[in-house]
Amino acid sequence: MRRRITAGNWKMFKTKDDAVATIASLSEHIGAHAAKENIYIAAPFVFIDRLIGQFGNTSIVFGAQNISEHEEGAYTGEVSAKMLQSIHCRFVIIGHSERRQYFHETDAHILAKILLAIKYRIEPVFCCGELIEDRNKNEHFTVIRRQIENTLFLLGTEQVQQTIIAYEPVWAIGTGVTASPEQAQEMHHFIRALLQEKFGVETAENISILYGGSVKPANAKILFSQPDIDGGLVGGASLKAEEFIQIIQAV
Ligand code: PGA
Repeated sequence: MRRRITAGNWKMFKTKDDAVATIASLSEHIGAHAAKENIYIAAPFVFIDRLIGQFGNTSIVFGAQNISEHEEGAYTGEVSAKMLQSIHCRFVIIGHSERRQYFHETDAHILAKILLAIKYRIEPVFCCGELIEDRNKNEHFTVIRRQIENTLFLLGTEQVQQTIIAYEPVWAIGTGVTASPEQAQEMHHFIRALLQEKFGVETAENISILYGGSVKPANAKILFSQPDIDGGLVGGASLKAEEFIQIIQAV
């Protein structure tokens, strides 16, 4: 079912004490106005188990920022979907542009990760997004189509129904430059049309598509009031509980 979601991506920030303090403050603030299961936090691996243990009974859903494309084996330093399932991790961000760019993740890696996440019942939050060069050449729709055709289009309908999509134009991530509500809506609409083309209208209408890229309290409301934008994937502004709360309220 299409849900409205505010997801925080903490990236490689925070120490254990800071992570616990931020969630304590967040859960205290959201108390009354939290719609159940609609606030997601993607924490660094090392804090997930602790946060679930301490705050698993709040309305916050905890997840990871990445998983291995391998199921199990001699892969030093990697973390598997099965490991995350064993600590009751609920979702995982897959294909973030920082993973594509700095860790050379390809669409094939991303597809393998999505399949493993689904196998171990961890909700994949699949990210797609174009570079500024792509947009300047008017190739942004082609790029997004390719990213989706190489991954989500290779899933079955039941599998794709278990995923969340995040459209994150790379030029808007961490830059302070946000896509305009019109640019974001246009791409979200395009993504939903692609899903409809492949999986039918019912599936397309029921998948949540989040916007990410310099979401702040000041721009959240206008972005999230667009018809095809179902919430946000928030980096920098999710690190402070007070700021993230304001975005949650906008959603
Ligand atoms: P940002 O990051 O909100 O800091 O731009 C978004 C993201 O990378 O998911």
